[in-house]
Amino acid sequence: MTHVLGIDTSTTATKAILVDETGAVVGEASSEYPFETPHPLWAEQDAGLWWTATIEAIQAVLARTGVSGGDVKAVGLTGQMHGLVLLDEADEPLRPAILWNDQRTGAESDEIRAAVGLDRLIATTGNDALTGFTAPKILWVRNHEPDLYARAAHVLLPKDYLRLRLTGTHAMDKAGGAGTVLFDLAARDWSPSVLADLGLEPGWFPPTFEGPAVTGTITPAASAATGLADGTPVVGGGGDQAANAVGVGAVREGVAALSLGTSGVVFVSTDSPQVEPQGRLHAFCHAVPGKWHLMGVMLSAAGSLRWFNDELAPGVPVEELVASAETIPAGSDGLLFLPYLSGERTPHPDPLARGAFVGLTVRHTRAHLVRAVLEGVAFGLRDSLDLIRGTGVAVDQVRASGGGTRSVLWRQILADILEAEVVTLGTAEGAAYGAAVLAAVGAGWHDSVEEATDSWVQLSDRTEPSGDDYSAANEIYRGLYPALRPSFNAMAEPAG
Ligand code: XUL
Repeated sequence: MTHVLGIDTSTTATKAILVDETGAVVGEASSEYPFETPHPLWAEQDAGLWWTATIEAIQAVLARTGVSGGDVKAVGLTGQMHGLVLLDEADEPLRPAILWNDQRTGAESDEIRAAVGLDRLIATTGNDALTGFTAPKILWVRNHEPDLYARAAHVLLPKDYLRLRLTGTHAMDKAGGAGTVLFDLAARDWSPSVLADLGLEPGWFPPTFEGPAVTGTITPAASAATGLADGTPVVGGGGDQAANAVGVGAVREGVAALSLGTSGVVFVSTDSPQVEPQGRLHAFCHAVPGKWHLMGVMLSAAGSLRWFNDELAPGVPVEELVASAETIPAGSDGLLFLPYLSGERTPHPDPLARGAFVGLTVRHTRAHLVRAVLEGVAFGLRDSLDLIRGTGVAVDQVRASGGGTRSVLWRQILADILEAEVVTLGTAEGAAYGAAVLAAVGAGWHDSVEEATDSWVQLSDRTEPSGDDYSAANEIYRGLYPALRPSFNAMAEPAG
């Protein structure tokens, strides 16, 4: 039997999964690495770590499954988005990569808004220049490390650095390209005018490819290092969120992907380039050819429950904690939780936002607090979904993945608060599975990504809205961030 390989270069590990011709995952392996925070708000990683981890993960998955390199017909790449990998003429990294979760570029984000004009930036790229995105990081190097900047010759993203090591070619997928905020979203390629406004050299930016398109083949050196066969095609793949959406089959309008991990993401595929007028949603190209997507990112989703468990109920199994909330009525008897424990991105792009319990009385028990956390995260995700629905894109079904979706109660709360059917999936391999799907299309096993996901993605459990009405609680929740924002700002003063 032949196979395809999906490789996910995440912030904490590189994961390789092998998928057979029926879409079944036959094996996986991963290799971990740290990231550095040399200054507060900074996040950097040495690109060499990804290459070493990729070699380890590929060798391990081949050894574990007994599949030979020659039986791997195509490779799909995915990974952390937005990270800046700056290379010199000889393809050597000039400095550690600056990652998506690095927050040093507030001034450069303003510089981009001023140079391009915020309205034109949003109209062209689909997005505001958020600190996490790639373009402000390039300007930061120009402003702070001019000697390095003078030697720059290539800009890549983390996954595309691996592509370079695997195939010897400079190339990028279109989902990742759009996440740089240097793309013309409608044209699905670099925007000559945005590059010119920012004074960036167009020759630094590689050709971009659709998710299933072949970008190059495994070189003899990469073959010797990994065990894959020389000449194996490597497809464009996609940024981790786009690839995750492919992996759950969110490839058509109306079907959203919800990822409930430490952070929470609401993602919907669109048939044309839709933009939230204030840039409060991310609008990128999908990894599906000719499709786009809208996305809201909440920074502390299942992370909120983990925090509660660790700090306020240490040692209590999370299942027991969540079960206690089943006896509490919808709305938690008037208790609300704001989930901004790590600041927020959507709908409030505010690193100073903080978490809060609001409405506490002596009647409230620990179980109320737990239920309020589950509901507060769902209200935060509903904010993103409402922005998506506000652009005119209908969402009828939410395909949920990530640790948080194991809870039946949380799925019910999500279905009620999002007012949509919540469906879980048979396989939950995340972005790496989506990358493998794109490789399978590239290998010619399927005619389209949609056809591949129709035949491979298995739906498991369906939760319909129960009729519980959260509209009054949602209304109050919505008023809390604007009311508390001055206090959050004051708390960020040095004395706080
Ligand atoms: C997407 C985003 C994260 C990173 C890290 O906009 O910032 O998903 O790709 O996983």
